[in-house]
Formats: sequence, C-alpha cells, structure tokens
Amino acid sequence: MLEVSGLEVRYGTVPAVRDLDLSVGRGEIVGLIGPNGAGKSTTLHAIMGAVRPSAGDIRLAGSSIRGRAPEQVVRAGVALVPEGRRIFTELTVEENLRLGLAGRRSKDGSAEALERVYELFPVVHESRSRHAGLLSGGQQQQLAIGRALVGEPDVLLLDEPSLGLAPTVVDTVFGALLAIRAQGVTILLVEQRAQRTVALADRTYVMSNGELRMTLGPGDAGDSRRMVEAYFGSS
Ligand SMILES: Nc1ncnc2c1ncn2[C@@H]1O[C@H](COP(=O)(O)OP(=O)(O)O)[C@@H](O)[C@H]1O
Ligand SMILES: [Mg+2]
Repeated sequence: MLEVSGLEVRYGTVPAVRDLDLSVGRGEIVGLIGPNGAGKSTTLHAIMGAVRPSAGDIRLAGSSIRGRAPEQVVRAGVALVPEGRRIFTELTVEENLRLGLAGRRSKDGSAEALERVYELFPVVHESRSRHAGLLSGGQQQQLAIGRALVGEPDVLLLDEPSLGLAPTVVDTVFGALLAIRAQGVTILLVEQRAQRTVALADRTYVMSNGELRMTLGPGDAGDSRRMVEAYFGSS
C-alpha cells in the first residue's frame, strides 16, 4: 500500500534520512521507532510532501507520490496525525473535526464519516459542543485522530500519539488503532514507546541516525535484550 525506497532527505547539507526502505502492506499496522533525532518525523513529512526528498521514491498503491504537494497527497488517500496534536483550542470539538472533512475525496458521506468517529471515540461525541482547549491531552489526541479519519484515508500516519499521555490513556489510543485497522485503514505508527509499539504492530522498523537499523516482530517485545540492542546497537 505504501512503499518508501532509497529515501534521502537533507536539511541543508545534513542528511536527516539516508537510503531508507520501508513498506506497509494493505491493512497492516507498521511501527517506526528510534531515539530523538532519528529521522522518524522527517520520514512522515516526506511521505506527506511537506519536505522534498533529495533521493528515492514514495509509492502509494503502486503510483509514485514523490514531489506532490501535501494537499495532493491527502487527496490521494494519506492522512497525518501530527506530533503535538495541533488542535484549535478556540474552536469546538465538532468544528475541529469538520476541518478534516476538507481532505475528503467525495462530497457525499460526510455525516456518516463524522458518525463513525463519534462511535469510535464516545468522549469526542460527548464533548462535541465544547471548546477543544477544555479537553484533556488524551481527549485531544482522540480528536486529532478523529480529524484525520473523517477524510476517510487509506493510509493513516501518526507521529507519537502517546506523547505525554498516562498509561491508561495510551491503552485507549492503541486500542483505537486496532479498531481503525479493522475498518480497513493501513497504519504507519511513529512512537517513542518502543515495547508497546513492537507488541502492537505487525512489524516495527527501528531507525537511528537517519538509517534503518533493524526490523522487529511482535515476539521481540518480550525480549528485553533485543529491545535494548534496537536502541543502542549491538557492538
Ligand atoms: N526543519 C529542520 N531543519 C533542520 N534540521 C531539522 C529539521 N527538522 C529536523 N531536523 C533534524 O533532522 C534530524 C531528524 O529529525 P526528526 O525527523 O525530527 O527526528 P525524530 O522525529 O526521529 O525525532 C535531527 O537531527 C533534527 O535535528
Ligand atoms: Mg519526531
């Protein structure tokens, strides 16, 4: 569904991502973990067309989307839940959700798309008339994911959705990812919570210093030696 090959992104002369290959099959949840500065967000921004790769290709269902503008990438069926949620605190919850409708490929079905988000996140429904700034961090994260989903993307990219959330709230967010996948959405999940991500995802890529270091499967989540090696190297 999503295939990144030989991706290189530079900020000035410094490469932030180098020769990166990764793929996400239709209906998969794929994790992308690694320390701060590894190049995870840059990879997502390159997929969205927000930064221009200096080499490599990005293919969506077989067609290259490299070099397309962000709004075109959204129209092609990719949505990003950005780091830090980017909720408009002065708008109501429903107004925030409606902003996501701009990314829809079809004019029909908007009401149903909102309805599905409200079913997935009852707390978003309950607070739909409140100012979004009044929501807790976990509720704002659910709203941010909902805003991406009302566009009915084929591929959902998330940048550290569990950042700053209490463990029980992380359960809610990770549980929602399984429900979203069950609706047929393909997911690429960037996270800091390595162990939980490895346990959840079909496959998890570990990046450091702009490069792919290793690929882990769900069975590796309980292997603490391998998890440490993933972060700090094996030499
Ligand atoms: N806009 C930018 N301008 C210059 N350097 C950047 C910019 N964004 C990120 N970087 C650098 O690129 C590298 C990768 O950053 P990033 O993709 O944000 O990593 P991660 O999301 O894994 O923490 C880091 O060294 C970071 O300092
Ligand atoms: Mg980041």
